Amino acid sequence: MEYSLTNAPVVLNSIHVIHQPVAIKGKLITALGKIIGTPIDLQNECIVYPALINIHDHLRGDYLPRVGPPEGTFYLNWSEWDKDLKTSDVFKERARISLMDSYLLGAYKNLFSGVCTVNDHFPHEFNEPFLDKLPVRVIREYTLAHECSSFDLKWGDGIVIEHRRALKRGHPFITHLEEGFDEESQRGIEILTEAESLDSHAVLIHCIGFSDEDIRRVKRAGAHVVWCPASNMFMFNVTCKIRKILREGVNVSIGTDSTHTGSVNLLEELRYARSIYRTMYGEDLPARTLFEMVTENPAKALRMDDRIGTLEPGKYADLLVVQQLDEDPFETLLKMNLENIELLVLAGVPLLGSDRFAALFQRKEKDYTRVALKGYKRTVLGDPNALLRRVQENVGYAKVLDYMPLQS
Ligand SMILES: [Fe+2]
Repeated sequence: MEYSLTNAPVVLNSIHVIHQPVAIKGKLITALGKIIGTPIDLQNECIVYPALINIHDHLRGDYLPRVGPPEGTFYLNWSEWDKDLKTSDVFKERARISLMDSYLLGAYKNLFSGVCTVNDHFPHEFNEPFLDKLPVRVIREYTLAHECSSFDLKWGDGIVIEHRRALKRGHPFITHLEEGFDEESQRGIEILTEAESLDSHAVLIHCIGFSDEDIRRVKRAGAHVVWCPASNMFMFNVTCKIRKILREGVNVSIGTDSTHTGSVNLLEELRYARSIYRTMYGEDLPARTLFEMVTENPAKALRMDDRIGTLEPGKYADLLVVQQLDEDPFETLLKMNLENIELLVLAGVPLLGSDRFAALFQRKEKDYTRVALKGYKRTVLGDPNALLRRVQENVGYAKVLDYMPLQS
């Protein structure tokens, strides 16, 4: 079906907002500024954005509640959290759910918050069996390390080989880095440099131990930083030197991490990022900057900016349509909740929509169901109601997951 969204501001990127139609055919955006195919009138009630990108998640870990340090204390590094998680009651409860369903929960967490593209920080052999069955795009084009320390989880073939592979394939090399304050965690940048792996392919998650010199080295190398403020504050009561990192001109994206430590979804993470920035520096982080951190910046870090992150003819039709909540479209993004999403489209395929878009959900080759999301009726790809029922049957009680507020 070829169609055009009309009568709405269209946020092409963080600089350009047009008040003209956007046309979609198949997987792609085909034109801006003219109506092609069936017009869908948004009646000046909605804003069209590029769909959001969550650059850092662990989909099988998107379960609740969070697991953290004993009250009044904080961790020295991530390995203490890993031990606490794996001996927790919630980890035992999570283990009663199939891995496929855990992945589906993570996927719906992202879908219901306007995210089309996710990076699941796990080795390929862990997540590959599940990716084709998920209702969002989980990227396959990456190489990785778990972290850069002698005590990391030994994912992949080691920093040197994984990074070399990333160069050869044109992929990002993604790793947690300096997620802690022990001597070795603090040497993350040195370890990467010694492995000749600090360059524009490197996507560095957390970076809370960075010195000023580390930040300059990251900038000189053209490497990318991923900021997960809620997870950092929950585990360590501190996050990275985000203002210095931004002022240095490093490409920064925001990721949720899993809900075992991070925000309940990317929309909450954006609000948390703004609030912690204000607490730390007594100044505001503009909504426009935060928008870049979940669209064009992660597209660039993931080396996918030729396909996603902004709205342009020839790029994927990854679209997020939201009720207008503020005159400023970027402030609307910071105010929105999942019930304000009117439409989410992944490469031309509608994932979630209100009745205004009923015509788009007639595709016979896709399985859609009706849900009541916080009481608002939506059509959604797949069957999250059945998923939640399976989860509740498996754990033996009426489990509530805040990122999936479904009502029967
Ligand atoms: Fe993580």
